Amino acid sequence: MGTPFRAPQTADAYTEVMVPVYSPLDVLAVRAQGATVWDAAGKEYIDLSGGIAVNALGHCHPALIEALTAQAHRLWHISNTYKSDSTLRLARALIRLTFAERVFFANSGAEANEAAFKLARRYGLHQSPRKYEIVAAHNSFHGRSLFTVSVGGQPKYSNGFGPAIEGIRHVPFNDLGALEHAVSQNTCAVVLEPVQGKAVCFRPRGNTSRAPVPCATATMRCSSSMKCRRG
Ligand SMILES: Cc1ncc(COP(=O)(O)O)c(C=O)c1O
Repeated sequence: MGTPFRAPQTADAYTEVMVPVYSPLDVLAVRAQGATVWDAAGKEYIDLSGGIAVNALGHCHPALIEALTAQAHRLWHISNTYKSDSTLRLARALIRLTFAERVFFANSGAEANEAAFKLARRYGLHQSPRKYEIVAAHNSFHGRSLFTVSVGGQPKYSNGFGPAIEGIRHVPFNDLGALEHAVSQNTCAVVLEPVQGKAVCFRPRGNTSRAPVPCATATMRCSSSMKCRRG
């Protein structure tokens, strides 16, 4: 048997095989350390985006490598058919460090937000058959699932998939008067990003966590993760 054919690893080959949903830089990263990334030709880059601000932990930190290696040797991925001790430890740590009483783990921001919107609707519908409206800001971003792009209010992400999800109202970001006007007895949730990351980083004028939610009874206030692309 001859040597197996290994197709060249290039940025162009990447573009050929990937569905063109994103438009990444024309750099094929092969190695990284700290904030530095290298391509196959050894050219050096500074990574200012991390995991789009989520896991901004740098690359290959020895403590992370040690923790991941130890876990890989102990217990690999296990389905949610089981209760796992590592999941329990992480859940307890999150509860200790935040306001939460319970934890829901998801694989992405989209799933986390989708779950929050579903929870808000389920809770609202327990109170009234019309209490399912979600109020969000134009130009926001809450993920790429159909529900989250509908809440996001950016036509470039939500158009072209047939009927949108109903019961979502959008107001201009930073317009507290419009927000107040949009919220009614039928609102089950208000969702705002602390900073609009995918609308070229709009900062709020005030404190969004203090945005008025006037419809008194049980409207959830959801805050989507703050992710500002590119440093
Ligand atoms: C504010 C905000 N919410 C949610 C998401 C979706 O997260 P994910 O890409 O992990 O689904 C993003 C992604 O960029 C985001 O910026």
